[in-house]
Amino acid sequence: MKDAAPKTIYLKDYTAFGWTIEEVRLTFRLAPRATRVISQIRFAPTSGAPRQDFFLHGEDLRLIAARIDGQPVTPTVTPEGLTCDVPDGPFTWEAEVEISPETNTALEGLYMSNGMYCTQCEAEGFRKITYYPDRPDVMATFTVRIEGDEAVKLSNGNPTGCGEGWAEWHDPWPKPAYLFALVAGGLVNHPGSFTTMSGRDVALNIWVRPGDEHKCAFAMEALKKSMTWDEEVYGREYDIDVFNIVAVDDFNMGAMENKGLNIFNSAAVLASPETSTDMNFERIEAIIAHEYFHNWTGNRITCRDWFQLCLKEGLTVFRDAQFTSDMRSAEVKRISDVIDLRARQFPEDQGPLAHPVRPESFQEINNFYTATVYEKGAEVIGMLKRLVGDEGYARALALYFDRHDGDAATIEDWLKVFEDATGRDLTQFKRWYSQAGTPRLSVEEHWQPGTSEAAQGGSYTLTFRQHTPPSPGQDVKEPQVLPIAVGLLNPNGDEIVPTRMLEMTETEQSFTFDGLASKPVPSILRGFSAPVVLERQSSREERAFLLAHDTDAFNRWEAGRDLARDALIAMIRDGAEVDGAWLDGLYRVVADSTLDPAYRALMLNTPSDSELAQVLFEQGVVPDPQAIWDAKDRAATARATRWKDALPGLMAEARVDAPFSPDADQAGKRALGAAVLAMQSRLDGGAAAQAQFDSADNMTLQLSALTCLIRAGAAETALTRFHDQWQGDRLVMDKWFGLQVAVAPPKDAADVAATLTAHPLFTLKNPNRFRAVLGALAGNHAGFHRADGAGYRLLADWLITLDDLNPQTTARMCSAFQTWKRYDAARQALIRAELERIMAKPKLSRDTGEMVGRILG
Ligand code: TRP
Ligand code: ZN
Repeated sequence: MKDAAPKTIYLKDYTAFGWTIEEVRLTFRLAPRATRVISQIRFAPTSGAPRQDFFLHGEDLRLIAARIDGQPVTPTVTPEGLTCDVPDGPFTWEAEVEISPETNTALEGLYMSNGMYCTQCEAEGFRKITYYPDRPDVMATFTVRIEGDEAVKLSNGNPTGCGEGWAEWHDPWPKPAYLFALVAGGLVNHPGSFTTMSGRDVALNIWVRPGDEHKCAFAMEALKKSMTWDEEVYGREYDIDVFNIVAVDDFNMGAMENKGLNIFNSAAVLASPETSTDMNFERIEAIIAHEYFHNWTGNRITCRDWFQLCLKEGLTVFRDAQFTSDMRSAEVKRISDVIDLRARQFPEDQGPLAHPVRPESFQEINNFYTATVYEKGAEVIGMLKRLVGDEGYARALALYFDRHDGDAATIEDWLKVFEDATGRDLTQFKRWYSQAGTPRLSVEEHWQPGTSEAAQGGSYTLTFRQHTPPSPGQDVKEPQVLPIAVGLLNPNGDEIVPTRMLEMTETEQSFTFDGLASKPVPSILRGFSAPVVLERQSSREERAFLLAHDTDAFNRWEAGRDLARDALIAMIRDGAEVDGAWLDGLYRVVADSTLDPAYRALMLNTPSDSELAQVLFEQGVVPDPQAIWDAKDRAATARATRWKDALPGLMAEARVDAPFSPDADQAGKRALGAAVLAMQSRLDGGAAAQAQFDSADNMTLQLSALTCLIRAGAAETALTRFHDQWQGDRLVMDKWFGLQVAVAPPKDAADVAATLTAHPLFTLKNPNRFRAVLGALAGNHAGFHRADGAGYRLLADWLITLDDLNPQTTARMCSAFQTWKRYDAARQALIRAELERIMAKPKLSRDTGEMVGRILG
């Protein structure tokens, strides 16, 4: 959309804005194609700020009038904003602009979704609403007047008045423009209330389209739990009289933490047993918590500039993970998070899009809302906490809230509170924020037996080496601080050295355990104590031993995962048979009814095709996506066959007889049940799945049955019935669209996706629907990488079309191509051609241009 050459912004160029804002008053006269926004802003020069022109951001605005202290002025307007001569002292800026929400398909700024007005301002969307210093370090109180016929008109903070055709809001807390929000439409609410720890009553509301009222109760409970948890665990209390949440269908991401007025993708808030899976419920609970926790980590303490994004996002992801661990199972949450980290963050860190947790430059900030900033950012905080201990962490956080409340802060501020609260020097630790790439950690062991007089005097040494491969712009990496949690087991399976946190700071470093009677079996990187790739050559026997005996739930799971990976790699590389020892060892854990069913279900989850492709690539083998898929398919059938007689018993254990509840216990059973049903379906052609589909009274069971039927090639009538049953429910139809593509046999996936893009309910305007089809295609590894390039072509076609409407979502989805250098020359040539075709599109957005440019390298 920008014709000028894209500009790169650098962290090192940060300069403060030359004015502070005392107060912002906004009036909105709503009209779909001609909304008027009238602003009145009190500016005062900041003493000591660098000299600069008075510049306000503004994009796609029609300036009607501008005044300074009541006198008309004529600013110099460019596509990025305006400059204007201003008085030396304080002054009042007034502007009237016109914008067109109805034609705003980018879903950034003020736009319309299903006839309702809503906003999305993070990161730089406020400049599409009015002229303003749209940067997070400029904070102000906002008073907002909304004029329009809509029944419900909301903005940030507390309501201060309303009448026929108008409503006014005041937010008493100074905030950056990215936290501004406005919603207006024919909404209905699901009300609730909360009394804070100091006894203040807060009105809670979830606002939805009429017809969705019955899908709000779960989110409301999640909100209350989040509010209680943040009081109990972090001492953080809510700070205004109302908390509004609005569900919006057309939304680029999950949700947004606007002060007092969170706006959610409807998929991240609406839930009912009939329409939502257990995974949907869990995700909703986590996102509600995440956005609520931002009230302190993000809003009360915000970011000085967008390079500091991980300051709020890494910390808030860390906090929502703690919350989920407390509400559900900590082990299951940890394992799920590591699966997710490896699936989304590792490929980013290992490819052309690698960037530090705190990037040092960008063209389009929207491209940096990444797994690295969010998930690796959270991992870095987890390591900090491991290094300083729970108490040190609590002291540091108390100091952070105390010292920085009301600030726009930096990573330096963040680390300083840890240094001041704990006396630790974090200079080296800070590399986690500046060095991109996943460290590789290798380890060697040395056993020195005791003498015959002192049999207990054996010593065991672990020698670690760390190495971080180069990444774009960073050829050489310095050693990082790695907390390595290690426990030792003796050959009987008893733990002889409980978990110890080894702190590695050098490139190569040894740690010795003395006083041992026999050579131990090490359990290394327990709980995944650092986000690294552990390269340990250990025997199959040792892995099987840890799978059977490790007292650390994560590493026990990891041992099973390593066995699975090695077995699959041997099948793919050498045409090996399925490793029976792996299946038998796994069976003993999965059949252990003393273990949590959710954990047992995770044990049954095998490494993804994409992860296996990366392993092969690192072994110097060019991955063949179809061969990977075939090996996994063969292994799954072998497993089902080998466990044939045990399946009915497992199925019975997974049965839930109580009325549906989305709690962790029931969800865990259903997850186990789904895995067992998948095995059963490989033996009975889908008969059991069909029975479950026919009798299912909740979406979790219905969808897991449908998945099995598709895989068994027996889903034709089920898909039709599902379609007819749910065609009126947007969120369920997203599942219908997505599942068919995700589970399609590789040779068909691109064709299934292409057919679905012609379905009358497919639309480019709704990111959920677009992602359901094209995102699922990118996720069907062998289908996407079909040798003739049909998958690449289809995705590129649709990204080129979407870019004119929605650059943000287009750019994000380009990351499907980020792993292209793993594959053979023919595939690389096909992908390169598609990337170049996207690059050559006329009027390519800055968002997509930056992404494709980086991927091409
Ligand atoms: N700050 C939001 C969160 O993490 C995410 C977000 C950033 C976002 N930019 C967005 C959401 C654009 C929607 C659209 O909670
Ligand atoms: Zn967030």
